[in-house]
Amino acid sequence: MRCRELGLTFGLVACGGPSKALDSGEPPLVDPELLPYIWPMAARPDQPSDPTNRWAGDEAAAWFGRYLYFEPRLSSTGTISCATCHDPARGTGDGLALSEAIGTTTRHAPALWNLAHQRWLYWDGRCDSLWCQATGPIEAEQEMGLDRVRLVRILSTHEDLRGAYSELFGPLPDISDPTRFPEAARPVESDPEHPHHLAWLTMNPADQDAVTEVLVTVAKAIAAYEQTLQTSDTRVDRFVRALDTGKRSVAEAALTEEERLGLELFAGEGECVFCHSGWTFSNKEFHNVGLPEVEGVDGLDTGRYDGIDRLRNHPFRSGSVWSDDPTGEAASRLERIAQTFEQLGQFKTPGLREIASHPPYMHGGHFASLTEVVAFYAEPGLYNGPGHREELLVARGWSTEEQAAMVAFLEALSATDPPSPDLLEAPVTPLP
Ligand code: HEC
Ligand code: HEC
Repeated sequence: MRCRELGLTFGLVACGGPSKALDSGEPPLVDPELLPYIWPMAARPDQPSDPTNRWAGDEAAAWFGRYLYFEPRLSSTGTISCATCHDPARGTGDGLALSEAIGTTTRHAPALWNLAHQRWLYWDGRCDSLWCQATGPIEAEQEMGLDRVRLVRILSTHEDLRGAYSELFGPLPDISDPTRFPEAARPVESDPEHPHHLAWLTMNPADQDAVTEVLVTVAKAIAAYEQTLQTSDTRVDRFVRALDTGKRSVAEAALTEEERLGLELFAGEGECVFCHSGWTFSNKEFHNVGLPEVEGVDGLDTGRYDGIDRLRNHPFRSGSVWSDDPTGEAASRLERIAQTFEQLGQFKTPGLREIASHPPYMHGGHFASLTEVVAFYAEPGLYNGPGHREELLVARGWSTEEQAAMVAFLEALSATDPPSPDLLEAPVTPLP
């Protein structure tokens, strides 16, 4: 891909130059001016590693992580796993506006594709690694409802879990002494009177660290698995490559005329590429698109604004003692950002590959279909939530046909081949 070879990115109209498909004397398949925005869509970056997670890239750890991802025993009811809310059959979402497990969440469950490429996790970016994120749901009361002491007990009592854990990571701590290890305990900074927090305070620091280490290691194994959740090629990739190599008939077969119109609106007039950019279709940053508040959720969701504070205070941020690279690039990123009022109401730009497979959409599951999403972008309407909407988002006056074309393009961002079962099914055994 020319753009990648030249290392050029958006805004440089010289990037790529006219494709061979356009030199044939026939009318161009897409507006040549948009090519600088279109080339990066098919420029798949290398699979990123994560130096903050020593198990990232370790096949056996990722295998065990996949086993744990589908494991309902890691919940207080024995019924909830990561896959309950990030179900492969629902595009790694749950099909609900707000998730329901032990309780109801205040945000929508996002899809988990291509997250190894993201810098910040969660809609508000309150984690800066996949493993930091994975510690959250295990101990969240409305999600899996466990605490780290009970987590160790569950791992210790089940032969398959104990065996795999100790083979990969060494023995689990012995928590059989009830005078040192309460029934259930975890730090709950937001509620110092919480029984789990009070129990946590009775533990000595070495015992606290021993159980925290297990929570972190389990999260790192799950994250090692999540690193592998990469999408495969779509018809859009095929189209862009054919354009690049001058294979007009291949390009024409890859995307219909309607989908090509959608692509032009996406890269051109709609200005979608300014946020949904590059191969993942996400600029990895936060924006306020001006959505209404979510029904049934108490309190104002300030998004990124509070997310920065929460990350700074997060015990598992990349710069913490639990990180395997506490002074590296990921950790220093946080030092470079400041909290500003601009961030009020901002949420992370989601990637759009496989988007058709996981309705509803947006941080509160505001829209039931892509048709509704596109109708919103076509006519964003008034906004009186926190902060202010990005000025890029203006009424476009698109016809029904143009809106349908945009939807058709978004639908073409689904992989042509189904993902390998090794990626999206629970393994039968905890280790390869
Ligand atoms: C009860 C449903 C539920 C369960 C169970 C659950 N999640 Fe989530 N997940 C959510 C919701 C809701 C969000 C968005 C929360 C937010 O941004 O504040 C989320 C966010 C995420 C994100 C962030 C994605 C992004 O784009 O930043 C990842 C990664 C993730 N979950 C992985 C997991 C893993 C791994 C597990 C199991 C350890 C898990 N989830 C268990 C509902 C759930
Ligand atoms: C200013 C940046 C920006 C622009 C421009 C933009 N988006 Fe978005 N997009 C976002 C953000 C941020 C979200 C998540 C918003 C939220 O939930 O609060 C989002 C969400 C979405 C979603 C839902 C994703 C999901 O997983 O829920 C789709 C689909 C989408 N955008 C498509 C488009 C299209 C099509 C355009 C052009 C018409 C566009 N976007 C323009 C930033 C942008």
